[in-house]
This record gives sequence, structure tokens and C-alpha cells, in this order.
Amino acid sequence: MNIIDGKAISEQIKQEIAAEVAERVARGEKRPHLAAILVGHDGGSETYVANKVKACEACGFTSSLIRFESDVTEETLLAEIERLNQDTDVDGFIVQLPLPRHINEQRIIEAIDYRKDVDGFHPINVGRLAIGLPCFVSATPNGILQLLKRYNIETSGKKCVILGRSNIVGKPMGTLMMQKAYPGDATVTVCHSRSKDLVKECREADILIAAMGQPNFVKADMVKEGAVVIDVGTTRVPDATRKSGFKLTGDVKFDEVAPKCSYITPVPGGVGPMTIVSLMMNTLLAGTKAIYK
Ligand code: GUN
Repeated sequence: MNIIDGKAISEQIKQEIAAEVAERVARGEKRPHLAAILVGHDGGSETYVANKVKACEACGFTSSLIRFESDVTEETLLAEIERLNQDTDVDGFIVQLPLPRHINEQRIIEAIDYRKDVDGFHPINVGRLAIGLPCFVSATPNGILQLLKRYNIETSGKKCVILGRSNIVGKPMGTLMMQKAYPGDATVTVCHSRSKDLVKECREADILIAAMGQPNFVKADMVKEGAVVIDVGTTRVPDATRKSGFKLTGDVKFDEVAPKCSYITPVPGGVGPMTIVSLMMNTLLAGTKAIYK
């Protein structure tokens, strides 16, 4: 059994990005600039955005954090998005989700210029991904692809089962794993809350990607011997013994599943750090205008 070290790979990629930025700056080109909009004070979102800003520093990017209170109006947010769309120094920006209920999330996503949509959430990027055109790929699926690639994990002809059909993980992950490419060329099944025999599907998976946000859902009897297991779950489960008061818990019961796997990602230290580094990779790309002029 091999543990996939997302933390180590993410550090390596950040160093590669920093080296490229240093070269660009030495040539007199500008530093990539990522802006993030954060609404309210949700604990998870605060941590994610703080980590994104920290990653920008490690990569040599300029970053801007724009904060609004949770009672911000949709109009104010849309106006800020338009300002960032027009700001020629900003190469890419994100609006951290989830947003307060009074704000129409889809309207916000669609207001972002797709050429600056480094989250890859805009319908133009999602559509281009679906038909295999160059685009910004959303961060978590892209991070998983990087892990598969850097560990040389075979995907061609494999049965890949994805648990969860969210727009930001399950759906794009399925699209990417069936793409004519490496990683890809897999036979993909996406399972969700209405799937008839999810356990049977899981047992047949060569590659199992758990992304439904249910702590410890995947047990040993659901995993084939030698499978590759990727755990996207990051639920904060209350834990009084910890200073933070919670334990970050994956969708996979790691201790009992790991001995059966050829490769497995831990939580934390697996997919999580790769998600942030994928956003950095997209920002680096946005800076070169390599995808969209
Ligand atoms: N909330 C959870 N994951 C993400 C992400 O990748 N991007 C944004 N903008 N919000 C998120």
C-alpha cells in the first residue's frame, strides 16, 4: 500500500511555479495576480481563503483579498466582480463559495469573465471541459489528475467509480476520467444518493473517488483488493480533544480501507493541498493568457 502524499507533491509544484514566476519577472514580465472575494466569516471558507493567499506568496504571485459582510447585496457583489473583470492587473479571481442564501450563486458565477475564471466554474469553462477544449479546470478534479499523473497511476481501461455528483467535483471528475487522455480513458460510473447498488459499484472499482462529504462512508468491504482510493472528503467532525475543536474527516474509513489499496490519499494531506495548488496552476496559466487571449 502506498500513501499518496498530496502535501509533498503540492510543495513541489509550488516550487516549480515559483521558479517560473521568477523567470518571468527576470524577463520583465508581470507577476500573476489572483484576487479572492470572501463573503462573511464561515470558518471553513476563512481557512481556505487564508491558505490560498499563503499559497500565492509561496508562488511569488500578487494576491488581493476582498471582504464583504454576509449582509452584502447581490448588486454590490456584482459591481465588485465587474470591477475585477475590468482590472487589467488582475489575471484571475475567485468568489469563495458557499455564499449567503439571499445571493444567487449561479448569477455570481456567470458574472465572472470566463477568461479570469480560475475556479473553472463558469458555464463556458464547464462546457469547454466537456468537449475537451482548453479551459480552466476546476481545482479539486485537476488536483486529483496531478496526483494520478505524478504517481504514474494507470487509468486507461480502468473502472473508475465516483461517489458524488457535485458541479465542482463529481461531474467534472467524471468528465476528465473519461477524456481521451492520460489521466483518463477510464470507464466511468458516477454514483449518488439515488444509486441502486452503490456498494456493488464500489466493489468493482479499480479507482474509487469519494466526494460526497459523508465522513467515513467508504468501508473496507466496499473496496476491491489493490484499488486506488482517492478521498475528497473534508468534513469538520467535532472533537473535544483538539485545540481547534474538530477533526478534518474524509469520506473513507482510512484505517480499515488503506491495507486493501495499492494507493490511497490521506485526510488531511491528500487531495486538500492539491486543490489549492491547482488554483495556483490556473492563475499561472491565466497570467500567460495561454488559454484565452
Ligand atoms: N468552496 C469550496 N471549494 C471551493 C473552490 O474550489 N472554489 C471556491 N470559489 N469556493 C469553494
